[in-house]
Amino acid sequence: MIVRGAEFEISAVRPQQWPDDGLPEFAFLGRSNVGKSTLLNRLLNRKALARVSAQPGKTRQINFFRINDAFRFVDLPGYGYAAVSKREREQFAKMIDRYLLEREPLVRILQLVDIRHLPSKDDVAIHAGLLELDVPVTVVATKLDKVGKSQIPKQVRDIRDALQTRVEIYPISAEKRLGLDELWTLLESDLDR
Ligand code: GTP
Ligand code: MG
Repeated sequence: MIVRGAEFEISAVRPQQWPDDGLPEFAFLGRSNVGKSTLLNRLLNRKALARVSAQPGKTRQINFFRINDAFRFVDLPGYGYAAVSKREREQFAKMIDRYLLEREPLVRILQLVDIRHLPSKDDVAIHAGLLELDVPVTVVATKLDKVGKSQIPKQVRDIRDALQTRVEIYPISAEKRLGLDELWTLLESDLDR
């Protein structure tokens, strides 16, 4: 994919604020700190289009990015971050659910998990929920640079077993730019459809 233009459009708290021109959308979903915003930036070759932080809980609204005037990336707030209040967590969850359930232009959900760890309870429950939706789901295993090459197949297998899933798992490193071409190929095939 040649990214000619990538712009931040809106940080939405309400569905009324979601863009309404129907451009196809890819959503980035996953635990807080798993690397959603970083991956999105790397795919677009932009340093800081989406805000990144070593502190979890950085992304708190639904952020829409418009690419090549042809499609969108949607950066969702991270789930499972204990240090935000219960009320706030519930609000995030509601906002994310609503988006995933209602969003017409959504063409694929990318669920990110950290390749170093087994998926959390939340990851597993959310994955099961995603499989019930009518939208294709792909698991992206992030921070590949943090594990040794020989460990990768086992980590991917363990993640697959824990999620009890047959969807494809893409190992990537945003940091070292590994696996990004493969992921782009997938997204391009969605857009060609
Ligand atoms: P929230 O917005 O809180 O939900 O987090 P997020 O999922 O958007 O994570 P973010 O992109 O802000 O990254 C969290 C931390 O992980 C940052 O310190 C990143 O630099 C780091 N990180 C992200 N991707 C990678 C990667 O591929 N490799 C390594 N080593 N670190 C990464
Ligand atoms: Mg983020």
